[in-house]
Amino acid sequence: MKRIAVALSKGGVGKTTTAVNLAAGLARSGKKVLLVDVDSQGQASKSLGHEPQVGLAELAAGEVSAEQSLTQARENLWLLAGGRSLAGLKRIITRKDYGSEQTLTEVLQIVDDKFEFVILDTAPGWDALTVNVLFYADNVLSPVSLEVIALQGLMEFVRSLASIQRYHPELALKYVVPTFFDRRVKKSDEILDQLRAFYPSYLCEPIRYNVRLSEAPGYGQTIFEYAPSSTGAQDYQILVAKLLSD
Ligand SMILES: Nc1ncnc2c1ncn2[C@@H]1O[C@H](COP(=O)(O)OP(=O)(O)O)[C@@H](O)[C@H]1O
Ligand SMILES: [Mg+2]
Repeated sequence: MKRIAVALSKGGVGKTTTAVNLAAGLARSGKKVLLVDVDSQGQASKSLGHEPQVGLAELAAGEVSAEQSLTQARENLWLLAGGRSLAGLKRIITRKDYGSEQTLTEVLQIVDDKFEFVILDTAPGWDALTVNVLFYADNVLSPVSLEVIALQGLMEFVRSLASIQRYHPELALKYVVPTFFDRRVKKSDEILDQLRAFYPSYLCEPIRYNVRLSEAPGYGQTIFEYAPSSTGAQDYQILVAKLLSD
């Protein structure tokens, strides 16, 4: 089983878009996928057209069974919903005297055994929940929008990751995915060159700017459903293929 955290402290870089379409693409190719929404905004579920009443927080609190906590969103694709109730989970974590960083791992181990991929969508920033996600994950995928500030954000994020890797050495930054790529914008190419220079072994093919990607969540659809021939669908399919070949 692969546990992939989609994470970067900066918001608006395409984390949720990537988590949702990556999870959906892997599920379409026949893999059993669990998408965990670890953001109190709950956007990942909404993007798939679901607003489950229970999810991660209720499972952690012992209010529901493993089976009850999961929502089947598509064939092969299950959701463990986040949303506002995650504030409660955050409180459970911060009140613990020891072992708090393993809280999420203990909870997810109740449900994750039947999946081949667990994809975790994270909130922007760096808080107890994000740290918990990084203690659970073995791979990190960081979407980086092609702006100077996002590149700086990635460097800072890599330093923060190192502080966790000291205690959880299995954790590896495995994929850096450039997002909002626009060939007409010179800066886009320049930043891509810099990413290539800094992170040659992790760099994935860029996801182009594509308005269809921003429209699809409003219809509760993945890019493969909403606009299967769009550049967004093509680019995410390439990312899916890369993950499948690893
Ligand atoms: N490649 C893209 N082209 C156009 N719009 C995009 C692209 N990727 C994401 N978006 C849109 O940009 C906004 C921010 O993306 P999102 O995935 O929510 O970022 P994050 O989860 O990092 O905050 C959303 O409205 C999303 O639909
Ligand atoms: Mg998000």
